[in-house]
Amino acid sequence: MLLFREKVPADWLPKILRNLPAVLVDHAHLERKAATSALNLEKYRDLYPCVEQLNAIAIEELQHFQLVLDLLKKRGIPFGQPYPSPWIAGLMKSVRSGQRHQAIDHLICCSLIEGRSCEKFQVLASKLKDVDSELAEFYAGLVESEGNHYATYLLMAKGIDDEEANARLGYYLDLDFKLIREPNPLPMLH
Ligand SMILES: [Fe+2]
Ligand SMILES: [Fe+2]
Repeated sequence: MLLFREKVPADWLPKILRNLPAVLVDHAHLERKAATSALNLEKYRDLYPCVEQLNAIAIEELQHFQLVLDLLKKRGIPFGQPYPSPWIAGLMKSVRSGQRHQAIDHLICCSLIEGRSCEKFQVLASKLKDVDSELAEFYAGLVESEGNHYATYLLMAKGIDDEEANARLGYYLDLDFKLIREPNPLPMLH
């Protein structure tokens, strides 16, 4: 179902496994930002009919955020500062202005972020099994939800203008192909 044109780089998983506490803090911020993104999408006129669907996503992301905060507390890891993600910033930099174009681009960026989360959580669910079974189960429990968000955002973009959304999806998949290969030594999910 995921359309990506490039695999997650091979050095991503070892970096994550070496830095799980920092990754959990980064993950908490990722869920917080996912909740605010869902709310931010409600500003677009083309998405007014989707306001309740977007609220539902924002609520789910806030619940994910709380789940990560609970894990942090349980493990004695303090909630700290987020790292900015060059991959996310690189995608968002290409969002065009103009109501309709902006809405489509913003939706596709959110969709790809959700899609990469879904993909990476799946990897973590399997690779953490023998290392940290609690975390493995936690990540397994998030896969379906992030996959649904990926599909929902993509369908919303296509619902605004199918042809335009397909063209922009192609553009953003190429951009993802380029950006995901940029080295990032920081312990972050994206
Ligand atoms: Fe989430
Ligand atoms: Fe999500």
